[in-house]
Order: sequence, then C-alpha cells, then structure tokens
Amino acid sequence: MIDNKSKFTHLHSQGLSEIVFEIAKIMGLDDETSNKLKIAGYLHDLGKMVVPNEILNKEGKLTKEEFYIIKSHPYYTKLILDQIPVFKGEISNWAGNHHERVDRSGYPEKLGKDELSLLDRVVGICDVYQSLIEDRPYRKGLGQKEALNIISDMVKNGLFLKEEFELLKRAVV
Ligand SMILES: [Fe+2]
Repeated sequence: MIDNKSKFTHLHSQGLSEIVFEIAKIMGLDDETSNKLKIAGYLHDLGKMVVPNEILNKEGKLTKEEFYIIKSHPYYTKLILDQIPVFKGEISNWAGNHHERVDRSGYPEKLGKDELSLLDRVVGICDVYQSLIEDRPYRKGLGQKEALNIISDMVKNGLFLKEEFELLKRAVV
C-alpha cells in the first residue's frame, strides 16, 4: 500500500525490510525481535498515507508548506501504529523514529542520542541507504560505494553513530 502510493518509492519499504532483517541476523537477535524489526521496516512510511499524492509525486521544487507536510509522515506512522496493541512500543518506535538523528537535527520529535535506541538508528540509517540506491525523479540511484561514502560523511557530521554504520556495511557489502 505504501510503496504503491508513489511510483518512485516502489519497493522501498521492502528493500529496507530486507536490509534491517539482515542486520538483525548479524546482531544475533532472536526470531521474534528480528521479525518485529522487519515489520517496522515495512511500516516505517505508513504515515505517508496522509500526505497527498500531488505532494509525494511532485516533480518540481517543494514549497516550504509542502515540505512541512511531508515531514509530518513519521509522526503519523507512530500515531497510527500506537493505536494497534501489537505494534505499540518497539515496532511503533523503530518505524516512527526513522528520520530522527542523534544530533537532534531529525524530525518530527528532534530526539537525540540518549532517546534513540540502536534499532531506531538502524532503521534510520538503512532508510537513508535504501533511498540513495533507488532512482528518484531528480537523479539515478547511486551505487553501493557512493551511497556508503555519503553515509560515512553523515557519521562524521554526527547524524549517525559508527555502531549502526558498521552494521549497515556488514549487511550490504
Ligand atoms: Fe520516511
């Protein structure tokens, strides 16, 4: 449902899910936690259901207001998942925190290092990677090396920690 909302993000959630599931295996997480992480991967952009398609698929530059509306999607992801008892808690947080960054530059809650768990950060960093390797209306998908270089700079700039970056590299290289 989510991937179909925008032709540019088709398969995005599935791709993300596969990487986080691989990381769960590398971390030696138990089956239940690994599967929950996979579900969080599938549902992380659920909140995009409330963002109008004209904005999601807009080819030109977004206005400030449109950008603000897009940036509300992880808030809605969490709001929706928190209504469902089996998703409330871990799955809702892992999914809803995927745009938060350890230096508090993320959104929607501007959470920081102390409030973000390793698995929150894992979903976040994998989301960036998966987005970079996919085609977008304004650019072709990047290669693995190029994408990892960009994320390496994000780590240097304090947006992610080395811990999740190492896990990502082990999962995709
Ligand atoms: Fe997102």
